[in-house]
Amino acid sequence: MSTTPAEPERSKAAKRLTPPDIAARKGATPLVCLTAYSAPMARLLDAHVDVLLVGDSLGMVIYGAESTLAVRLETMIAHGCAVARASRQACVVVDLPFASYQENPQQAFRSAARVLAETGAAAVKLEGGEEMAETVAFLTARGVPVMGHVGLTPQAVNALGGFRARGRDAAEAEKVLADARAVAEAGAFSLVIEGTLEEVAQQATQAVSIPTIGIGAALECDGQILVTEDLLGLSGARVPRFVKRYADLTPVVEEAVARYAGEVRDRTFPGPDQLYRKRGG
Ligand code: KIV
Repeated sequence: MSTTPAEPERSKAAKRLTPPDIAARKGATPLVCLTAYSAPMARLLDAHVDVLLVGDSLGMVIYGAESTLAVRLETMIAHGCAVARASRQACVVVDLPFASYQENPQQAFRSAARVLAETGAAAVKLEGGEEMAETVAFLTARGVPVMGHVGLTPQAVNALGGFRARGRDAAEAEKVLADARAVAEAGAFSLVIEGTLEEVAQQATQAVSIPTIGIGAALECDGQILVTEDLLGLSGARVPRFVKRYADLTPVVEEAVARYAGEVRDRTFPGPDQLYRKRGG
């Protein structure tokens, strides 16, 4: 078995992927998408992925909140700047946070325009289906590429009554399908389907002409996304069923920090290599 890390598939493509490039991937090679919230992580992921999503999941993953509801637009802009600056190839998409777009299309445009102008990201993502179609059409007609998000929409956690998978009965399945169609017809360039029964996600993928990006959805989606900290084993013991841990970095971090703490306490850090001394001294 080779221990050499896989060459990034996209490392030779110096040009940054655009929303139209992503839209053109319907039914083609699956889109590889991950979340990124910081410059160091964006730098590590960039050559391996098609989309870097600055997700409002950062409210839970790095700010420790119970939901994404308290995330502010300014916070998304700050993290969006870091990710856009540190990446060169991936299409960077920034989430519009709760209460920054639901009021009306004009509010959504003001928020999205700030995100695009202040971060350098190429697109925004917003949650919701039929009820957001007018807003998606308004934004796309004014030069704002929109990634949709249907199924389990975390910003609606209170209205949905929790983070339960969607599409379990006929009415819920119909609603997810109607939402997917509405957002696609309104002009979104791609669509996240989260926490949705497999067969409903499969039907939604067939029903729309834009790529679907699954998270807890279906293998047949046109791409997949995960929260990077979940994939790396850095987000605690409890993760949703749909997470696959590709690494367990928690013990690696704990071991390094324990060694550092020991060396500080027994005065072996800093050593000669970490100190500034006069030459020949
Ligand atoms: O906020 C987020 O990270 C997301 C992805 C999980 C799709 O919306």
